[in-house]
Amino acid sequence: MSEPQSKEIEALTPQEAEAELARLSGVLGAANTAYHRDDAPEISDAEYDSLKRRNAAIEARFPELKRSDSPSDQVGGAVADGFSKVTHEVRMLSLGNAFDDEDVAEFDERVRKYLGLEPGTVAYTAEPKIDGLSLSLRYEGGALVQAATRGDGEIGENVMANARTIEDVPHKINGAPDVLEVRGEVYMSHADFEALNARQTEAGGKTFANPRNAAAGSLRQLDASITKARPLRFFAYAWGALSAPLSETQFGAIERLSELGFQTNPLTRLCDTTDALIAQYRAIEEARATLGYDIDGVVYKVNDLALQQRLGFRSTTPRWAVAHKFPAELAWTTLEGIDIQVGRTGALSPVARLHPVNVGGVMVSNATLHNEDYIAGRDAKGQPIREGRDIRVGDHVQVYRAGDVIPKIADVDLSKRPKNAEPFVFPTVCPECGSDAVREEGDAVRRCTGGIVCPAQAVEKLKHFVSRAAFDIEGLGAKQVEQFYADGWIKQPADIFTLRERYGTGLQQLKNREGWGEKSANNLFDAIDEKRQIPLARLLFGLGIRHLGEAGSALLANHYGNWDTFEAAMTEAEIGAGEAWEALNDIDGVGAVMAASVVNTLQQDAERAAIDALVAQLDVQEAVRRVVEGSPVAGKTVVFTGTLEKMTRAEAKARAEALGAKVSGSVSAKTDLLIAGPGAGSKAKKAADLGVETIDEDGWLELISAL
Ligand code: IVH
Repeated sequence: MSEPQSKEIEALTPQEAEAELARLSGVLGAANTAYHRDDAPEISDAEYDSLKRRNAAIEARFPELKRSDSPSDQVGGAVADGFSKVTHEVRMLSLGNAFDDEDVAEFDERVRKYLGLEPGTVAYTAEPKIDGLSLSLRYEGGALVQAATRGDGEIGENVMANARTIEDVPHKINGAPDVLEVRGEVYMSHADFEALNARQTEAGGKTFANPRNAAAGSLRQLDASITKARPLRFFAYAWGALSAPLSETQFGAIERLSELGFQTNPLTRLCDTTDALIAQYRAIEEARATLGYDIDGVVYKVNDLALQQRLGFRSTTPRWAVAHKFPAELAWTTLEGIDIQVGRTGALSPVARLHPVNVGGVMVSNATLHNEDYIAGRDAKGQPIREGRDIRVGDHVQVYRAGDVIPKIADVDLSKRPKNAEPFVFPTVCPECGSDAVREEGDAVRRCTGGIVCPAQAVEKLKHFVSRAAFDIEGLGAKQVEQFYADGWIKQPADIFTLRERYGTGLQQLKNREGWGEKSANNLFDAIDEKRQIPLARLLFGLGIRHLGEAGSALLANHYGNWDTFEAAMTEAEIGAGEAWEALNDIDGVGAVMAASVVNTLQQDAERAAIDALVAQLDVQEAVRRVVEGSPVAGKTVVFTGTLEKMTRAEAKARAEALGAKVSGSVSAKTDLLIAGPGAGSKAKKAADLGVETIDEDGWLELISAL
């Protein structure tokens, strides 16, 4: 008789199956520990997956033998859900990028324009951009009480036990404000990184591709004793919640953090001009190789904290800072193939499959080739790029990678082109569904015309639907969506919400499927139910409408307030004319392209049926305007007109919105308040005709001054 572990599942006796399930539970449990706790995998990922599949298949055949500790019920590694969550009192943001001197000049211009200041009047700090991961340390009464990763900026992971093992993180500080959140970067030095990899190799464990990965893997460890054995460091460069200001300037605040006992970067400088910023950039670039840790650029910050305050934030980045990145990393390798991926909006995107190559510390095997013109060696206007050199499979190509962005193919070496290399023929039918793929006039991209009939578009739409910024359903990620789609369980978003009804009980149980158990199936159904209540903005973003991103969805949600109003307006709107169309276009930040795309989608029969079916499953929450306590303009619609003398239009608008007002570009019966500066014309007249209250800039400043 053969061993149960090598036997076909169909041939297993119940006794053999029971023994085999016990064995698999042990092997998979040990593999999990080795991988996630010890960072020292014992079996390959493929082998792990194959064992897990075998386990699930045996369970499907003998449901009654499923163990209470079944590996099917265990989700990935403990790391993924092992940390408690921390909501940041002050959001942790990222930075906008500048790639050359011109971008830096533009940054300074934007800052001054927003504030209405002359050239040369704004001072900045310049400091290295550390290539690690950010950490927020909270001190209360001088004692470290919390340490959290950035997470999505709003909610991070509580990594207190690990942070306490970092030598540069003081446990107690003296003379600090009562509440102080210090923010900075956790990183690993080159020397420590190499020593760690050497130790890992010796122990037969997993090595890290670069110091950043090593630092991230070490900080996000459930077992703090492992973190302790991996020397991490910390530079402080910013702060979150504060009970008292640290200083009046950025430079002063950093000095203060240094006095409190934090490591701050010694290459931080105060610069009065953009020329001085560029000079410091060059100096840091020159020192880069000798620093002993990775940096990927230089960060510039407005020095005056009162100006920082006035400048405030865009949705995810501050207006008062920018990261001037170092030039991209380059490498040469062979182009082994070109695949065409079909995206959510039908775009056919060529992806380069590369012979794996190390580009500045990261192994790269895929890169984007943008579109068919790019491959052919011309730009959207038909002008040559790369002096007209096209790219062919088999070519020797140059890959470049800048920061976190997707690697790109920059160039091709014709002297190494194989004799038989053929020009690449871009498909004119969708490789996924066979529908025509067409290029509309002025569009650089060829698109599949299959709409939701195209499986690739449907799957991508579903993936987008469950993604983090949309419905964010725990346990239902890209991988699960693909499986469910392939099996015909989910064809459109509405189907997600009928899964329990269709597969929760009776014959076709989700829990009997490979990879699922009773517990994980129920968890999934519960997670889905939890998202039936959904904020309007998330629903709109989740629909995956072309040209409608997160910011646009928020604008629409805030404007229309609830689903019914939105839906009625989109049904009524005629593209290009009429009141509903104009109201949509009047929303500040909504342009004609976005507006037309939204109206079109809502008026297409198939799309509309899918959306209606979805909404019928949901309880769409009204958009709540942020309540700004004591704000006299919260919820009011205001219009600015004429010249403002004490602040720029952009600042006035941002300030009004921060106070909960809706800023509109035109006066109508819905306007609550007109702020008219000198030179106000037709809007002031219309306001007067409509009896809308009108005040001047001083009146406005007085009105909001209490805040
Ligand atoms: S300031 C509100 N300064 O870069 C802005 N960030 O790309 C707060 N980083 O998430 C960030 N060195 O993790 C700042 N000297 C530095 C930095 C730095 C590295 C990281 C940080 C941030 C990311 C943005």
